[in-house]
Amino acid sequence: MSSRTRVAVVFGGRSEEHSISCISAGSVIAALDPERYDVVPVGIARDGRWVLEAADPDRLALGPAGELPSVSGTTEVTLTPGQGLVVTEPRDVPTLLGEVDVVFPVMHGPWGQDGTLQGLLEMAGVRYVGAGVTSSAVGTDKHFMKQVFLAAGLPVLPYVLVRPRQWEHDPALVREAVAALGYPVFVKPARAGSSFGISRVDAPAGLDDAVEEARRHDPKVLVEAAAPSGARELEIGVLQGLAGDAPETSVAAEITVHGDHVFYDFEAKYLEESYVLPAEVDDEVLGRMRELAVRAFEALDVEGLARVDFFCLDDGQLLLNEVETMPGFTATSMFPLMWQHTGLDYPALVERLVQLALQRSTGLR
Ligand SMILES: Nc1ncnc2c1ncn2[C@@H]1O[C@H](COP(=O)(O)OP(=O)(O)O)[C@@H](O)[C@H]1O
Ligand SMILES: [Mg+2]
Repeated sequence: MSSRTRVAVVFGGRSEEHSISCISAGSVIAALDPERYDVVPVGIARDGRWVLEAADPDRLALGPAGELPSVSGTTEVTLTPGQGLVVTEPRDVPTLLGEVDVVFPVMHGPWGQDGTLQGLLEMAGVRYVGAGVTSSAVGTDKHFMKQVFLAAGLPVLPYVLVRPRQWEHDPALVREAVAALGYPVFVKPARAGSSFGISRVDAPAGLDDAVEEARRHDPKVLVEAAAPSGARELEIGVLQGLAGDAPETSVAAEITVHGDHVFYDFEAKYLEESYVLPAEVDDEVLGRMRELAVRAFEALDVEGLARVDFFCLDDGQLLLNEVETMPGFTATSMFPLMWQHTGLDYPALVERLVQLALQRSTGLR
């Protein structure tokens, strides 16, 4: 019996963040120690098929001119309880790829980060990295996430929820509720990411178009009061403690958006370097960030890891923007960079997450 651990890195998927997931997965695959781990790269194509991918991190990298990678394997596989990964296509050669000790779902957005994949893994009894079913689902839905934060007494910006039925039958009521919130506002799909579908709206005349734009990504939309001008965007990493220890926090980072960007949009996130690390914040603010980040982590029952994002107002007040249960994980993403500055480099971070996943069972816990 080999003592090596078989890790299936699952990535891609049906969400709009398919390519970002591929880039994150390429970095994770490159970091998994080949002495200890057998890596099985499993891509989920944009149409939902599960396929074997080459363990070639270069193929999954962002191209020199910003070309985005995608899943392109042709050997179809399925996850079968008790058997692990099984080749299903081509059908003439049924091949058992073997039991998987742990799955590393490097997935962003719906159908991957939102509890759906986690549910499948629970059903199959396979251990996996990161948040469980409910926290993944709540963390992906900006509406339910805020509800949980509010119930836990955590500070968030006020917002109006726009359900499809309300927008289709009584948009005037929505416009009124948004006017009461006060402009400017941010209009967002409830369950997207990477800033897809988000717009800042400065006056009522722009609301309808922004809602329609958000609805192209998700029928459920949030309209949120903009953070007061001058607010800074700060982020921090949280890691579950090993062996039942309390969660740990990283150093903080500040997002700095400049040039043509009105906010931290897709290009600013992935194609430009727009951050200060470690953030220049005084110890008192950092201390409150750490405390609120752990409270948010625990309010959502997150396991494994999370990036917690804040707005920091002029007077030092902190408001929670969101918790990411599978934050961007490319070698240049904020979450790994914050941990690197805290003393945990990328391979050590990946190792820690796999160990945390192996320590816990599936099922109710
Ligand atoms: N209420 C807000 N006030 C100010 N800026 C906001 C607000 N909501 C979102 N933004 C800007 O839009 C970016 C993306 O919004 P966010 O809610 O974090 O969605 P995503 O899940 O796509 O990251 C934020 O990083 C911030 O720059
Ligand atoms: Mg965000």
